[in-house]
Amino acid sequence: PKLVRTAHLKEFKQTGRKFSCLTSYDHMTAGIFDEAGIDVILVGDSAADNSLGYSSTLPVTVDEMISFGRAVSTAVKRSLVVIDMPFGSYETGAADALANAIKMMKTSGAAAVKLEGGERSGAQIAAIVEAGIPVMGHVGFTPQSVNALGGFKVQGRGEGAEQLIADAKAVEAAGAFAVVLEMVPAEIAAQVTREISIPTIGIGAGPDTDGQILVWTDFAGLSAQKPRKFVKRYANIRETLLESARQYAAEVSNGEFPTQDHSFEN
Ligand code: KIV
Ligand code: NA
Repeated sequence: PKLVRTAHLKEFKQTGRKFSCLTSYDHMTAGIFDEAGIDVILVGDSAADNSLGYSSTLPVTVDEMISFGRAVSTAVKRSLVVIDMPFGSYETGAADALANAIKMMKTSGAAAVKLEGGERSGAQIAAIVEAGIPVMGHVGFTPQSVNALGGFKVQGRGEGAEQLIADAKAVEAAGAFAVVLEMVPAEIAAQVTREISIPTIGIGAGPDTDGQILVWTDFAGLSAQKPRKFVKRYANIRETLLESARQYAAEVSNGEFPTQDHSFEN
């Protein structure tokens, strides 16, 4: 498609065309990922740790998310831009969730919102969808609940499978157009993908979801930390930047840069 819309993702599921998603929080990378043909760009609240330096996703605000959303959406021509509703912007009830979703849609330039939680978020999802705003769900490991979940843990193992499936079905029933499955056993993710009609988007959920998503700083190798098991690094941007910055510093200090080529004449 010339412009990816939520309906295309459903078509992709029906025809078995797997689709790709990446996060972005800034104008430059969003433009690159759009040009590369990434189908969905998520303005993730992972911007909290990756761009703002917070120690979790919890502190990021609606207004901060809107700034990231504007930076991304103004660079994108084709990808579907989805923006995360941050912690605290929807848990207090459907009315608050709707008000914040409307604010984010009015000002961020995104085409859809995403929020975390299955059964517990059904009323919020339904209210936002009712207002004409497409919603992406997010179940399994939900980072905004990291303190309740006791850390970064695989969800839906063993007896947890039943709850995970119920959560995905609740998201579907509430009217969401797609659902992220984060850190769930591949077999359970495959089962959910078969049993619901909306597309599933996996991160640490194995190969059988309808789409895949990675956090861009993980996929590009920007972080100094060892990547988690489900991450594949497609580049080593941190190493490249580190080496480049060291070389620049050395060349400034020894007078190699700038040369006449970089200088203006009278
Ligand atoms: O904020 C984020 O990066 C996300 C993805 C991991 C799905 O929610
Ligand atoms: Na997120």
